[in-house]
Amino acid sequence: MNQALAAPVRIGLAGLGTVGSGLVAVLQQNADWITGRLGRAVTVKTVLVRDLTKPRAVTLGPGVSLTADAEALVSDPDIDIVVELMGGIDAAFALIHKALSAGKHVVTANKALLAKRGPELFALAAAKGLGLYYEASCAGAVPIVETLKSSLAGNRIKSIIGILNGTANYILSSMSEKGLPFADALKKAQELGYAEADPTLDIQGYDAAHKLIVLIRLAYGRNLPLEKLPVEGITAVTPEDIRFAREFGYAIKLIGQVRDLDGRLAAGVWPMLVHEDFLLASVKGAFNAVRVEGNASGPIMLHGKGAGDLPTASAVLADILALARQGMIPNNTGFLTEPLPEAELVDPDDFISPHYIHFTVKDQAGVMAAISKSMGEHGVSISQAVQKGVPEDGYVSIVFLTHEAQNRAITGVLTDTDAMAFIKPGTVHFRVL
Ligand SMILES: NC(=O)c1ccc[n+]([C@@H]2O[C@H](COP(=O)([O-])OP(=O)(O)OC[C@H]3O[C@@H](n4cnc5c(N)ncnc54)[C@H](OP(=O)(O)O)[C@@H]3O)[C@@H](O)[C@H]2O)c1
Repeated sequence: MNQALAAPVRIGLAGLGTVGSGLVAVLQQNADWITGRLGRAVTVKTVLVRDLTKPRAVTLGPGVSLTADAEALVSDPDIDIVVELMGGIDAAFALIHKALSAGKHVVTANKALLAKRGPELFALAAAKGLGLYYEASCAGAVPIVETLKSSLAGNRIKSIIGILNGTANYILSSMSEKGLPFADALKKAQELGYAEADPTLDIQGYDAAHKLIVLIRLAYGRNLPLEKLPVEGITAVTPEDIRFAREFGYAIKLIGQVRDLDGRLAAGVWPMLVHEDFLLASVKGAFNAVRVEGNASGPIMLHGKGAGDLPTASAVLADILALARQGMIPNNTGFLTEPLPEAELVDPDDFISPHYIHFTVKDQAGVMAAISKSMGEHGVSISQAVQKGVPEDGYVSIVFLTHEAQNRAITGVLTDTDAMAFIKPGTVHFRVL
């Protein structure tokens, strides 16, 4: 065996929280297996944390040093790969930038950073001929990054449709299964550790948006600035709408999607009605799933644990092993051009899909006719309509599913109906997948 190849791969690990501890645990548990596969051991040399006194979920081996000094990772000539599992933007950016500048490969799980400042880091990695790998940044254990980068590399990707946030999916699933209101479902998710104390990124759709931006880069070789992506979270979803959707044969899911429309991309993150015949509708709890359609491969569905210590560590390890195996020859975004050009987006108002609209209206004659008239004027045709419930304070729910219509037409209808005195403000509208 070649002596140089037999030397261990030495890791500088930044972060010993959920994922960092998971990585140490899997490295300990699977040490022999990993060495056997790779022909080299993978060892952690130094671990960077903020608080040196904090109790840790794992016991570090005898040769491993714990430090609060980031320089100890980036300036150590004995560290081959810096693994960034700190999260956040500024400190993580600085660490990765320094590590790449110092000639070290980097593995990260940080989707927020890659969505916001990825282009700068990928350009630096390309200039230095180094690896910047990030399988764990999208959908945890689900190998979607490698699938897009390598397995489907010869395809034009027609669409990616994903349940990319386990917290949001857990909340929507428990609202659906137990009839819980949003706030109670969120509280339960927090108690069970599925949601952070500050769940903003998850419930407002931004965590899914970060991942979608990473996936768009991989699938199309295009950068998409976060502020250009339409993003809507799940806070407006109610058990009542979940029930109505179910009566029509749909589940409500937080969906991140992109479709290639002749070179321009139609992309966004929204709560959407997904027909129960689609596999995505049956993705329950904290699981993630991604459906990718290549022009040669046809549709492919990946499903698995989108977060958690060991599942996420599994993806981090895949990157470490891939870098070590490829003799450290990088394949970062899957495209040769760096920096990548910016994506050309379709105006979200031009998107075409069926729609779900839930009006709360005074229980009186002529209401249905007025709504139908507005829909007719905007070219929106109705596929199903129901009037539900006994009047409450004199109001009832009228719910429509439309045939395919431009979002612009629906906005027109909602502008008309918002001005009608017999309709309560705050009409609920979701797109249908
Ligand atoms: N949790 C998941 O299931 C999951 C799934 C996929 C991707 N990710 C991504 O993985 C990354 C890590 O997530 P996590 O859940 O493991 O986070 P976490 O539990 O909060 O752990 C963060 C770790 O980084 C250390 N750290 C943070 N800022 C630092 C700084 N400025 N200098 C030195 N050390 C610092 C912390 O040190 P102290 O312990 O001393 O405070 C802690 O050990 C994030 O980018 C996240 O988005 C997480």
